[in-house]
Amino acid sequence: MSSHRALILGGTGMLSGVTRWLAGQGWHVVVPSRRYCPIPVDDDVPGRVRWIEARWERPERLAQDAARALGGKADLVVSWVHSAYRVPVLNAVAGLLVEDGPVVEVHGGSISPGEPRPALTGHPTQRVVLGYVREGASTRWLTHAEIVDGVLVAVRRALADRPRTEHHVGEPVSHHAH
Ligand SMILES: NC(=O)c1ccc[n+]([C@@H]2O[C@H](COP(=O)([O-])OP(=O)(O)OC[C@H]3O[C@@H](n4cnc5c(N)ncnc54)[C@H](OP(=O)(O)O)[C@@H]3O)[C@@H](O)[C@H]2O)c1
Repeated sequence: MSSHRALILGGTGMLSGVTRWLAGQGWHVVVPSRRYCPIPVDDDVPGRVRWIEARWERPERLAQDAARALGGKADLVVSWVHSAYRVPVLNAVAGLLVEDGPVVEVHGGSISPGEPRPALTGHPTQRVVLGYVREGASTRWLTHAEIVDGVLVAVRRALADRPRTEHHVGEPVSHHAH
């Protein structure tokens, strides 16, 4: 797996555990974000993580810099990009992916089943929808560990070339009666 490359949009925030997991599997992972955020990996970990400075507001520039840091086509894109930037950013990085390379799109908040549609129709997309957790009479957001575990289920499914699916982590926000 050591020649595999991944681009993780939002990979320095709550998805940093996904970044570390892929590096642990021998992947070369590129994480674009605004604030300098090296993601440490142990010396005995076969993969590596490259942070690059980039912003969703400049998607073409982000794609150019990510291409250079990847050093070859990406085998996987994982995306946690806020809705206003999701489509332009994913369109800009589409050309960095290998043909038929999978995308894992993470969505949060209140969304309808099946919506929004995958941004890159030419690539198999696993959708992850983040919800909430009910604990007795109260509810809480998912922890980062729960989010990472849920996204990794979708990542493994994407890498196993399984049919596209929607993965719900927690209960959907849209069905949450306040
Ligand atoms: N259902 C749920 O459980 C649920 C749903 C949504 C959110 N949450 C919670 O809410 C918290 C906050 O969410 P968050 O969206 O701030 O997630 P986050 O993953 O903590 O941060 C967003 C990621 O995107 C990057 N980013 C943000 N704006 C960017 C921009 N304009 N250009 C480039 N990169 C950008 C950030 O790095 P930079 O800031 O360095 O750019 C970071 O890597 C999460 O940590 C989570 O716990 C929970």
